[in-house]
Amino acid sequence: MTDRTVAETVPLDPRSTEALASRGLEYRTVATAGEEFDLYNATVGRGFLGERPTPEQVQGWRESFHGNRMVGVYDPRGAVPGAPVATVNSWVMDVTVDADSFLPMWSISAVTVSSTHRRRGIARALLEGELRAAADAGLPIAGLTVSEATLYGRYGFGIAARTGTWTINTRRAGWVGPRPTEGENPGRLDHIEREDIERDLAALNEATRGSRPGEIDGWPRLWTGLAGLTPGKPDPKVRGVRYTDAEGVVRGVLVYTVKENEADFPASTLDVITALADGRDAYAAIWRYAVEHDLIGTVTAGLRSLDDPLRWMIANDRALQVTERDHHWLRILDVARCLQARHFRVPGAVTFVVTDPLGIADGAWRLGVDASGTGVVEKVDGGANEGDQGRVVLGISELSSLLLGGVTASTFLAAGRIETDLETARWLDVAFTPITAPVLGYWY
Ligand SMILES: CC(C)(COP(=O)(O)OP(=O)(O)OC[C@H]1O[C@@H](n2cnc3c(N)ncnc32)[C@H](O)[C@@H]1OP(=O)(O)O)[C@@H](O)C(=O)NCCC(=O)NCCS
Repeated sequence: MTDRTVAETVPLDPRSTEALASRGLEYRTVATAGEEFDLYNATVGRGFLGERPTPEQVQGWRESFHGNRMVGVYDPRGAVPGAPVATVNSWVMDVTVDADSFLPMWSISAVTVSSTHRRRGIARALLEGELRAAADAGLPIAGLTVSEATLYGRYGFGIAARTGTWTINTRRAGWVGPRPTEGENPGRLDHIEREDIERDLAALNEATRGSRPGEIDGWPRLWTGLAGLTPGKPDPKVRGVRYTDAEGVVRGVLVYTVKENEADFPASTLDVITALADGRDAYAAIWRYAVEHDLIGTVTAGLRSLDDPLRWMIANDRALQVTERDHHWLRILDVARCLQARHFRVPGAVTFVVTDPLGIADGAWRLGVDASGTGVVEKVDGGANEGDQGRVVLGISELSSLLLGGVTASTFLAAGRIETDLETARWLDVAFTPITAPVLGYWY
């Protein structure tokens, strides 16, 4: 796991300090001790249309945000000078790039600008400041999850993982998948307490994140929140069921809430908060539990992988409706480190001619892949070398989308998002094939 406490030592970006000062605003870091932190969280809560957090919630974050880099923008003429008018919170965590291959990622969250100070370039100063600071500190990539899909492309972020929200009509679904809790040597399902949900989620995410590009290592309070144990805001509706294999090893957990349908009780809804499975049997057992649950007419689940196998475990394809959406946005800061962190499925070479609106990753980068699939990236003068598949002209946002293999070069070529020849695009399609569709099962 990456040491995330490095984030708090990263200095503020001088260009953003200057840009905000020219508007009469102060840009500074926020300590977790003291009243300043309460006011910082009140601004964040308001920015996301939420309530003012309770003292217990703020205390929980005080413990959880240890080592994070929290930044506030202050208006000295404001009615509450200690309250920021804009916020951002960042830390370092791992993102999975390919099978058991991870990069330390500058993770950006809590981007808010008060409605009283909107559209004056404050968010731009914050985002550019985050990216320059992270690049200067040697971080190879930045990431975030977003409230609106129109905000971050302009800073060089690209959609790296799209996910699906499922609605399953359980009366029509039928189960044709494995039944690992039956037969010889069966595994078992058990209801568990919320403290066990928290532990199982952390352990199973650790066991499985290396096989899911786009996934993160998370942080302790992520599991606390998903288990319904957020300090100051516990959720008694959260339930969990665990799958244990025949050898007694915990392999899966399904975390959910149930919404009763008072008018038609057997048509109630089971909302899956999160589901983690280490292996096929665990996956089949927990999803069969949800789909065949008595009194449940509908199962919903968000942030699912677009090639999740559930569709092929139910008898009726039309019982599963999927709504797709962008979810994990990544932003390459160091082209060579990012590309070299993944494996490539075929040997060859290409030159990426990259433009970056912030000037961080501008330039021409030659990727050479050997017979073992290992890539070596070097900065070159911009032309294609003899024998190379060719040249790809693209923005850093597009390269960031291609990195995990969540979109193919051929699709980007057809959409007019990159410039290259068809042969090069087809080589890239194969070379960048992901081990599985990129996904991210959480918000941050
Ligand atoms: C979204 C938000 C952070 C923008 O802050 P802001 O200070 O008003 O933004 P800026 O003035 O710096 O604008 C920067 C750019 O983003 C664009 N932009 C800002 N808000 C936008 C929106 N909601 N939709 C589309 N574009 C937007 C601006 O037009 C500007 O474009 P340009 O510089 O390329 O011309 C702010 O409205 C907010 O806090 N919203 C609620 C919380 C939220 O959604 N946060 C994002 C979490 S992921």
